[in-house]
Amino acid sequence: MKFILLSTILSGLLSFAAAAPIILKKRDWDYTKDKIHGVNIGGWLVLEPYITPSLFETFGDDAPVDEYHYTQQLGKEEASKRLQEHWANWITEKDFEYIANLGLNMVRIPIGYWAFELQDNDPYVQGQQAYLDKALGWAEKNGLKVWIDLHGVPGSQNGFDNSGLRDQIDWQTGSGNVDFTLNVLKEMIEKYSDSDYSDTIIGIELLNEPLGSSLNMDELKVFYSSGYELVRDQDASVPVIIQDAFQSDYYWDDFLNTEQDTNIYGVVVDHHHYQVFSTGELQRDMDTRIQTACNWGKQEGGEYHWNVCGEFSAALTDCAKWLNGLGRGARYDSSYGGGAYVGSCDDLYTYDEDYWNNSDVIKQYRQYVEAQMDAFENGKMGGWVFWCWKTESAVEWDFQRLAGLNVIPQPLDDRLYPNQCSF
Ligand SMILES: *[C@@H]1O[C@H](CO)[C@@H](O)[C@H](O)[C@H]1NC(C)=O
Repeated sequence: MKFILLSTILSGLLSFAAAAPIILKKRDWDYTKDKIHGVNIGGWLVLEPYITPSLFETFGDDAPVDEYHYTQQLGKEEASKRLQEHWANWITEKDFEYIANLGLNMVRIPIGYWAFELQDNDPYVQGQQAYLDKALGWAEKNGLKVWIDLHGVPGSQNGFDNSGLRDQIDWQTGSGNVDFTLNVLKEMIEKYSDSDYSDTIIGIELLNEPLGSSLNMDELKVFYSSGYELVRDQDASVPVIIQDAFQSDYYWDDFLNTEQDTNIYGVVVDHHHYQVFSTGELQRDMDTRIQTACNWGKQEGGEYHWNVCGEFSAALTDCAKWLNGLGRGARYDSSYGGGAYVGSCDDLYTYDEDYWNNSDVIKQYRQYVEAQMDAFENGKMGGWVFWCWKTESAVEWDFQRLAGLNVIPQPLDDRLYPNQCSF
């Protein structure tokens, strides 16, 4: 692969900063007219044990905790065989038809760096690009827009299993990792900026969930700026998505904001909102949860950039099997994290038919989902992307199943609990 030097990009950046605002051509998505209603295609091109536990359960006690170790443990040949089968079957054209039929207009597709380039000694196997390309065709055929989302980078940007590699955050500290990532982005952008995709791809997300508190934010900003430049060098029309890195609302207002003058939306901020990853959040009653979601909508609706809630769910607990990582329990029942006991996970560890066959249960989830959808469409919030489209057994995270249970409104703008945010 061709290496570009960070310094070259930096000097390009400096000259950009001094230049007049870039006038961009019309985007394929107009946030002033339409709201994004999307789902994440999770657990497909990047494995997540909690979305497809069956792939990991076959190992018994010796199960790998992430895709890196899954491929390392199996070796390239066997890993490739199993992953090819997974990619071919977990998501097919039928899913995209179903997604469109539920009234959704967009999918966010996570993919790891290793689908494009391998580092020396990487155990990962390749073949994901062919499936991403198929998915782009299915999306186009079904009138769905796509964000391509770089979900994992070398060394890991957050230590989550969904970055490919759990429990370490060496992306910035490992030698050459950031430059390596920029080269991967360059390859991605060169390919997916092709005009064949211009009706379909309405966002390239430079990096999913960099864990700001464990990273050097100045270096992250340089990376984002460089990635932005790579996109603009290639094709002025595709919006650049920057994930908020768990920073507070308005944090990104003064960053990469020159294009906004043209009233065309070149940079979009991606916020992720869950209320289940701390004991304090798990203890909230429904009113507090709804108020919290509405407050996000109020604040982020007033941000400088157009922004989207690129991940949220119906979850009221963290009980789904391996949600916090393979082999780990839940904060909710105090089997993980050391906090206070909130309640039992028995009904939510995997799919429990009796639990979901209960109108009081459905009611509370429906109320919560409606409030979030309302919140994330307020003002400069340009919509929402549910995490995720489907799972093997984690119902609180499974849009397809929740639509069948009447937790997801059909049509999507149907409201049993209208105006919960009183915007
Ligand atoms: C759901 O509950 C009702 C009673 O409330 C019962 O008649 C029905 O068989 C249950 N369905 C399933 C699939 O368990």
